Amino acid sequence: MRILVVHGPNLNLLGTREPGIYGTLTLSEVNRALSSLADELGVDVTLFQSNSESALIDSIHSAAASCDGILINPAAYTHTSVAIRDAVSAVGLPVVEVHLSNIHSREKFRARSFIAPVAVGQVSGFGLDSYLLGFRALFNHIKKGL
Ligand code: DQA
Repeated sequence: MRILVVHGPNLNLLGTREPGIYGTLTLSEVNRALSSLADELGVDVTLFQSNSESALIDSIHSAAASCDGILINPAAYTHTSVAIRDAVSAVGLPVVEVHLSNIHSREKFRARSFIAPVAVGQVSGFGLDSYLLGFRALFNHIKKGL
């Protein structure tokens, strides 16, 4: 099984970016935790971050041929990107959406996700655990379908 993990804009700044909201873990530390969970589950993982909407879309397209599912934190594009939602729909892979913060308890504009309706599910508000729980849930979901 291969899973693509996609991190959206500004997540490269984790660790120093609004630590009161997003915590002090860096993106490398998040990726290390995901890699060790992937090892434990026997999953091949590809890790990708970009600040560019088009690069994020290209990475989703490329997963169609090589991956069984996608774990994505679309970051701010969650709330704006019809194009990322369409890419998710187009590839037809199971997608789990994750957020470090609880997007439902912050500003009103963050509560709307363009991605959630085309995702298997969403995990939001648990910091690093959002990624780890989302990864496990995606793994279990894919396994059921194999
Ligand atoms: C985020 C929440 C988004 O609203 C925000 O734009 C982000 C990070 C999160 O992980 O909590 O960049 O996706």
